[in-house]
Amino acid sequence: MLPSLTTRPGEPGDWPDLRTLYAETFTEEELLPVVEALLADDGFGVCSLVALSDGKVVGHIAMTPCGVGKTADAAALLGPLGVRPDAQGQGAGSALVRAGCEAMVDRGFSQVLVLGDPAYYGRFGFRPERDVTPPCPIPDAWKDAWQSMATGAGCTQVKGTLQVPPPWRDPTLWGT
Ligand SMILES: CC(C)(COP(=O)(O)OP(=O)(O)OC[C@H]1O[C@@H](n2cnc3c(N)ncnc32)[C@H](O)[C@@H]1OP(=O)(O)O)[C@@H](O)C(=O)NCCC(=O)NCCS
Repeated sequence: MLPSLTTRPGEPGDWPDLRTLYAETFTEEELLPVVEALLADDGFGVCSLVALSDGKVVGHIAMTPCGVGKTADAAALLGPLGVRPDAQGQGAGSALVRAGCEAMVDRGFSQVLVLGDPAYYGRFGFRPERDVTPPCPIPDAWKDAWQSMATGAGCTQVKGTLQVPPPWRDPTLWGT
């Protein structure tokens, strides 16, 4: 476990650290532009959290409010999630997933969706999702990577296509 591991909402002063974090963590994908676009518009209502160890930024997560079919604010989309390579495997990612889900529960969201490795997200209770369709086609081989977790009591299962804000409508973010 990293020393003095905490999470807090992202702040404008975090941008230099986030730029370094995204460059070092995602060497094969360009995910900083989607984070910048999501956080540039307060209307998207995106929840951005950083993980700190000894006061330094070591990880970041974004949670985006989304509709499902015609139901507004029906689910939260988790991602991106990244932890600096030198801080990985020491609990920061788990702390961010838990804090991100709790933040969205507090805002009344009862379902969180993610496109990610089932071996990782399964640890938190995410399971393959079939009723909510991703906003863009995903490769067949990634079918089980599209997952969801119910986070609130008494949630009603919604069905339909996930309605994402424009920064998430780039098909390359969905593997196609
Ligand atoms: C994936 C990532 C966010 C996990 O964060 P982390 O701080 O390293 O993870 P944690 O320390 O909380 O990991 C908890 C456990 O998950 C395991 N784990 C980490 N990444 C995993 C993966 N891709 N698949 C399966 N298990 C994984 C760890 O080994 C650890 O296991 P343990 O508790 O049995 O020792 C981080 O490794 C990362 O940023 N990777 C590169 C970017 C990436 O792939 N992001 C995910 C986008 S969907």
